[in-house]
Amino acid sequence: MSLFFSNCIYVAARLARRCLPTTVPSGLRRLLPFLDGNFGASNGAGVVGLYSHHLGGRRPGWPGGLTVLEVGVGATNGSCYELAALGARRVLALEPYVALAVERDAAQLRATVRAGVGAEQLAERVGRIGEAASLETGSVDCVLSNSVLEHVAEPERLARELARVLAPGGFMLHVVDYRDHFFRYPYHFLQWSRATWNRWLNPGDLPRWRLGDHRAAFERAGLRVEILVAQPIPDAFARIRQSVHAEFRHRSEEDLATAYGVLLVTWPEEPLK
Ligand SMILES: C[S@@+](CC[C@H](N)C(=O)[O-])C[C@H]1O[C@@H](n2cnc3c(N)ncnc32)[C@H](O)[C@@H]1O
Repeated sequence: MSLFFSNCIYVAARLARRCLPTTVPSGLRRLLPFLDGNFGASNGAGVVGLYSHHLGGRRPGWPGGLTVLEVGVGATNGSCYELAALGARRVLALEPYVALAVERDAAQLRATVRAGVGAEQLAERVGRIGEAASLETGSVDCVLSNSVLEHVAEPERLARELARVLAPGGFMLHVVDYRDHFFRYPYHFLQWSRATWNRWLNPGDLPRWRLGDHRAAFERAGLRVEILVAQPIPDAFARIRQSVHAEFRHRSEEDLATAYGVLLVTWPEEPLK
């Protein structure tokens, strides 16, 4: 398919998407698979599996005994129940925008119950909060997020706030989906100026950050960033490389083409807690 033709489909779909609310109702999501990015609301254990996978052997025993903050958990606390079941001391589910889906959350809690750890015990260890400002300075050992940073309107502000609550020796793991969330065309959104994107095409929660923006935000907050994964989709990127908008052209190829990124963030010169 020519780029012109795919752009026609893309622009039509993006204009239609602007007519929908930012959080697409679940029934509609099934009809729009190319637009759906939520995973944790129905599979908290899957999200925690991702964190464990990327952390690898870097923190043996994780998350046992830690106070964990998960940023942008979505409609349920499912991943936080899973962290509690794995031995986290306390798990804070930070979600400023999406209300708790009570029935789905209860189903996630039931699915997490293990022999020897009941639903009540798990629920007691998990707390849902609307903002990190309520947390004490240096009170969190581990900060996690999955598919969240790409939606954050002010990453520098969030990075400063997370740095404030992160304890000495603590660490963060952020899994970021840098694709255009009309997933069929993972880089098409790089073809438009910021003005055009925001006026006509942005679904409302996709600021088009690249890996380097997040790295810079944490570094400016005084933290050290290690990029664990910066995975491109080479064929898809090759299709739009020549049409990347001038506003993005100063970026490195890694920055532009990273579709899936994982950032490990620590305090400088400190071993992992
Ligand atoms: C694509 S959903 C991911 C939800 C969940 N982490 C998962 O893996 O399914 C993005 C989430 O990020 C949240 N979010 C957006 N901006 C945020 C911010 N500044 N601070 C915390 N959460 C934010 C949204 O409310 C939404 O729940």
